[in-house]
Amino acid sequence: MGRSAIKRVCKKVSKKEPASPSKKPAGKNKDPSPDPAPHHTFTSEETETLRKELLTWYDRCKRDLPWRRLAAAEMDANRRAYSVWVSEVMLQQTQVSTVIDYYTKWMKTWPTVEDLAAASLEEVNEKWSGLGYYSRGRRLQEGAQKVVRDLGGQMPRTAEALQKLLPGVGRYTAGAVASISYGQVTGVVDGNVIRVLCRLRRIGADCTSPPVADALWNLANDLVDPDRPGDFNQAMMELGATVCTPKRALCGECPLQSLCRAYKKVELESASSIRNLVDRRADAPIGSDIEDCAAASCSLCMQPSDRWDGSLGVANYPRKSAKKPAREEQTVTCVWERPGEQGAAEYLLLQRPQKGLLAGMWEFPSMLLEKACTMKEREDILCGRLQEVSGCEVSVKDLQFVGEVIHIFSHINQTYLVYFLHGIAMKEAERSALRWVTRRQFMESAIPTAMKKILQLCDGQRLLCGGAEPVSDWTALTPPLLCYPAFMTSVLSLSA
Ligand code: ADE
Repeated sequence: MGRSAIKRVCKKVSKKEPASPSKKPAGKNKDPSPDPAPHHTFTSEETETLRKELLTWYDRCKRDLPWRRLAAAEMDANRRAYSVWVSEVMLQQTQVSTVIDYYTKWMKTWPTVEDLAAASLEEVNEKWSGLGYYSRGRRLQEGAQKVVRDLGGQMPRTAEALQKLLPGVGRYTAGAVASISYGQVTGVVDGNVIRVLCRLRRIGADCTSPPVADALWNLANDLVDPDRPGDFNQAMMELGATVCTPKRALCGECPLQSLCRAYKKVELESASSIRNLVDRRADAPIGSDIEDCAAASCSLCMQPSDRWDGSLGVANYPRKSAKKPAREEQTVTCVWERPGEQGAAEYLLLQRPQKGLLAGMWEFPSMLLEKACTMKEREDILCGRLQEVSGCEVSVKDLQFVGEVIHIFSHINQTYLVYFLHGIAMKEAERSALRWVTRRQFMESAIPTAMKKILQLCDGQRLLCGGAEPVSDWTALTPPLLCYPAFMTSVLSLSA
């Protein structure tokens, strides 16, 4: 970003005592935990070196990404902040390669915050379809409406104001938007930055624990380059995404190798195992501990119960406590096909409620099973649901079992038990939340990825008449779907 385009905001702000690290206000502020041991911090010389090496590397190696191009070229601060905000929200939990296309289309459709504010939720969901975590799109649109309605069309100008005023904007997004688009000197901590910092300073305690989260935000705020805060933050994230990766980190290419205590530890460990191989005497010294933290009981160090794993190398950091297992759920669902007026087959879709999971999106008629059911029970439940939505008599005999689709949401392993129903006449129900759509309309609607996979499963079984309008866009659904016959399973690992 051209520096001249940015009016720099460089001030310390006071902050309230927060309940949890992630809820803390954004901004360049010091979290209240006691000062960590020197082993987990940087001296001022190290800080200078880190800034210089990192930014030199970033200038040479950064990826050419549409949101970076846009932010660099956009002179209007309001438009710039909006464009960065969109990219940062899309990049949460989604890979850069997936985001590029969505971002480009989004910015073409809604280039300003006013354009987005005027869009309907339906349009937003359609554009977001396939990106997952749909509440992100809804929140963006609610935020845009707030900016236009309550803030005179002006985006908030500091991290604190962004976090306070915009729905769904947390400490990370606020810091990213404020530093990248306004040049506010404030750090950011996302998954990539956590990994980089934990390795650099050998922070091996659970990285989701409050003392570690506080320490990481303090480090990020202390390290951020006051001359190029936006570039610095992006460089830290870029390093985590491309070099300091979760597995098989490219330490040989890392501009911060000389500052990395995890790398130093790996070197010492391998030197010590070579020494031990050569000198097998029982009293031979095992590995130097000069690189270890000197604090008596340190809340940032790896706990004694978490042993160093030599096969992992620097990937011993960061550590995370075990994730809560996802909930297992089963849902019966029916692909109901009828011949349409123009000859092309049509499919029945219902709209989900405006709140909760996949709010406002369209799906095949479905019913979550409250308990384990026999096949007969689940078919009766599905028939009941189909009768309720259509006003038609539907018999179990009309249903054909197709197979299963497993879809992994962030916190739910959802198994869809997929049925097919063809050609029963249906009284047009007077409901705005019900639609018959052609395949083309289906692909262009706000449809969760799981529903597209379900239709694809039916395609694989050659059950559908809708092949007259083949869907050429299945490849857009990553990762590739495995399609199995009935009673087998198609496993999906996308979030929705
Ligand atoms: N991940 C999220 N936001 C990013 C950014 N601006 N640059 C690099 N990686 C990111």
